[in-house]
Amino acid sequence: MKNSIAAIILAAGKGERMKSDKPKVLHEVACRPMLGYVLDLVKQLRIKRYVVVVGYQYQQVKAFLPASASVAIQRNILGTADAVKQALPLLSGFRGTVIVLYGDNPLLKPDTVKKLIAHHTETKAAATLLTAQMDKPDGYGRILRDSYDVICGIVEDKDADEYQKTIKEINTGILCFEREKLARYIKRIKPNNAKKEYYLTDIIEMLYKDEYVVESIKADDPKEVMGVNSRVELAYANKIMQQRIQENLMKNGVTIVDPDSTFISWDAKIGTDTVIYPFTVIEKDVKIGSHCSVGPFARLRPGTRLDDFVTVGNFIEISRTKIASGSRAKHFGFLGDARLGHSVNIGAGTVTANYDGKHKNTTIIKDKAFIGSDTVLVAPVVVGKQARTGAGSVVTRNKNVDDFTTVVGVPAKPIKTKMR
Ligand code: UD1
Ligand code: CA
Repeated sequence: MKNSIAAIILAAGKGERMKSDKPKVLHEVACRPMLGYVLDLVKQLRIKRYVVVVGYQYQQVKAFLPASASVAIQRNILGTADAVKQALPLLSGFRGTVIVLYGDNPLLKPDTVKKLIAHHTETKAAATLLTAQMDKPDGYGRILRDSYDVICGIVEDKDADEYQKTIKEINTGILCFEREKLARYIKRIKPNNAKKEYYLTDIIEMLYKDEYVVESIKADDPKEVMGVNSRVELAYANKIMQQRIQENLMKNGVTIVDPDSTFISWDAKIGTDTVIYPFTVIEKDVKIGSHCSVGPFARLRPGTRLDDFVTVGNFIEISRTKIASGSRAKHFGFLGDARLGHSVNIGAGTVTANYDGKHKNTTIIKDKAFIGSDTVLVAPVVVGKQARTGAGSVVTRNKNVDDFTTVVGVPAKPIKTKMR
């Protein structure tokens, strides 16, 4: 199967309905551009040959693609058929099945596509569509069937008449073609429609008229095939993606006390027996060990690394910071560009002043240090092993606190050194 399948990913559209300067496929779902999920899908299906069609702001979209991707540029965004046409020269010499995927389908799962490809291969159809039954089919192309229930065409929402609008079987946009037929028919598509675009979907009626077999399978879950065209749909896709991400974590032994008020990035790594309390936000590139306690109201930003048995409590923001096992930061504060050893205690209101207006600087807090409430650590600075800072102290830049030393005041000065 591997060698006879190639994919075309359509990602050239502006996404008019998003009302955005950013290309639609780069809008994020759970911290990842939608197109990322589609690229992942192609990878999971082990499809080696694929072409991404880019157009609107194509430099930005290209920058997001792996260097190895083959890219076709659609100079004028004239519709899905025109987009596919731009990709075909890059698949020259390829014989077999082409699957068309859309960059605005972030929720599509590999199993569904596998079923589609399998059905297409078994039936040897000229084309096979993935369709879905939707309670609210508005906006989607509708599947037209003849009196024998055979697919005879697709009508776009904007071109549909009153009756056609009542059809609830929709075109998901995902379809398989035999390359040679696709190449032949695509040339014949004309922009005879409300949007004056070249519709890929018009091929279906042409194939039917020429008595070719068009097959279809229905997606089990219509949510999976939703196309994201607007910010409202983007929010909905985020909701569904959150459910998937969180359920997957829970299956793997993470407690999420209130999934509805929790936001977790697609790539978060969280160990078993860690508890995530409500209103916690975990952004991309965050790794959390086992037996940790996070939140309520914690915000973990990119580059956060928590070892096992770490507690981060409420109203704390952590960014580009590594915290070793057994350390605690239980109350409000900010830790940025910091490295904490094990069993460190961070008092309420502690702030690492990491930014001096030009650079982000590092704060190092060594094993078993005890940072008093309301301490400000002006980076770059090092707080030594088992050192302590008094409440309200301001440790100024480069005034490192030695191991076993206590500092107090503004600016902080040592008051005593423990016997070793
Ligand atoms: C399309 C289908 C519709 C289907 C729906 C499913 C057509 C004509 N319509 O409508 O039947 O129900 O998807 O979600 O195919 N694109 C390009 N170049 C273009 C135009 C679009 O690359 O010239 C890309 C877009 O970036 C997007 C995808 O193709 O990823 C689909 O385009 P979009 O405009 O969202 O189509 P829909 O109106 O949603
Ligand atoms: Ca769409």
